[in-house]
Parts: sequence; C-alpha cells; structure tokens
Amino acid sequence: MNRLAIIGGTGLSQLADLKIIKSEQINTPYGAPSADFIIGELNHKEVVFLARHGNPHAIAPHKINYRANLWGLKQLGVESIIAVAAVGGITSKMMPAHIAIPDQIIDYSYGRKHTFFEDENDPVTHIDFSYPYSQTLRSKLIHAAKQTGIAISPIGTYGCTQGPRLETAAEIKRMEQDGCDLVGMTGMPEAVLAKELGMNYVAVAVVANWAAGKTEGEITMAEIEQNLHKGMANAAELLKTFVAMNL
Ligand code: HPA
Repeated sequence: MNRLAIIGGTGLSQLADLKIIKSEQINTPYGAPSADFIIGELNHKEVVFLARHGNPHAIAPHKINYRANLWGLKQLGVESIIAVAAVGGITSKMMPAHIAIPDQIIDYSYGRKHTFFEDENDPVTHIDFSYPYSQTLRSKLIHAAKQTGIAISPIGTYGCTQGPRLETAAEIKRMEQDGCDLVGMTGMPEAVLAKELGMNYVAVAVVANWAAGKTEGEITMAEIEQNLHKGMANAAELLKTFVAMNL
C-alpha cells in the first residue's frame, strides 16, 4: 500500500505504540501545520502521524490550519489518511466508547478555509464529493475491525459543527432529522481538502459522549475523557491491525 498517515484527534495526541523514527517540520504556502509530522513505525510498519490539535493539545477545532496539515501530508508523499476523531453520538447505536466508520458527511461549519481552489487566476474547480470517504479504505478498516473482534458501526453520517462549544439539544434534534448519526467538529474541511489533493481519506469516529439532549443533565469533560480512554484504546488496536493487514 502507498504511504499512510494517521491524523490523531482529541484523546489521541500521541499514538502510544508508535516508535518514533524522526519528525519533520514543514512550512507550507498556507502557514504552519498543527505540529511536526512524526515518521514512525506502528507494528513495524512505517506511518506518518500528525496531532490535529497540536502537541500538546492546544488548537481548537475552528482554529486548526487544515490546509497546512493536508498540504504537509501531501508533501511527504502521503496517499492515504486515516483520520481519528472524537464525536458525540446521536442515533441509538452510537453509544459512548463505540467506534464508527462513517460513509457520509453533512457540513454545518462556517468561516473555515475550506478549499485549495480559490486563486483568481486558477480555473473554477468543482470536485466531486458525492462519497466523501474512500470506499476502499473504509472496506479495509471494516475488515480489520472484524479481525480484532471490536464491534463497530460500518456506516454513519457525520455532521460537522463549528464549535468550540457543544451543540444545543434543538440543534442535535435538527441534525438527527437531517440524518446525522454522529456530531464532531473537525471532519470538515479536512475530508474535502484531502479529496482536492487526490488523497484517500477515511475517518475512525470514536464516540466520547451522547450528544446534547440525549441524556439528562450536562455533558462534562470528565465524562468525555473517561469514554475516550476506552474508545481510543480500541481505535489504536484497530489501527495496529489495519497496518499489519495492509502495509
Ligand atoms: N459535539 C461535537 N463534537 C464532539 C462532541 C459533541 O457532542 N463530542 C466530542 N466531539
């Protein structure tokens, strides 16, 4: 398989089993990426790792320089990306610590630099985004999950909100009516920028909490951290199995 990158989100700023070989600082025409790119070995296979929120975790979802991150990965020759992301669960199967491999996106974010095609001198470009995630990578991840015995949801619609605040109960109700199963803050424009650069992109969504209004009371950071601890351990297991089977 071609060069693989893992983008780690909240709860996965570091990949514990990654043997670091070197780190690369890359400057891009779009500014600085979230962190240095780590070239390392996971299960004896070479991968590139990037901490989406910086290392330590300090960059809020709406402040992430998604273009610089994706451009940097492209410079490193990355052709496939597994993006790990913490999400809230909306529909009944998406309980805390569960993992989903979404197949669709609805974008509710705004004001983010969401395209590489904005230079007035360039021809107007409309890329196809009917199926935002790589179907091939999704199948391979689903296959790897079967191997590990970790129960995952093999489909789901990811709704991307602006953050950094969590949603209102009414917003989640509307998102559910729209068809969203999951809610997160970083899936866009990451997915579309990968597509614009011709890279295969897939998400591993780890449920951190029931979305707003789905349970009594408020959503706390303590609850999110506790659920992510378990969910991210499963995500790391899935990644290790994926690389063993595909690289
Ligand atoms: N909403 C949006 N993003 C999230 C959530 C949520 O409830 N949990 C983790 N990331």
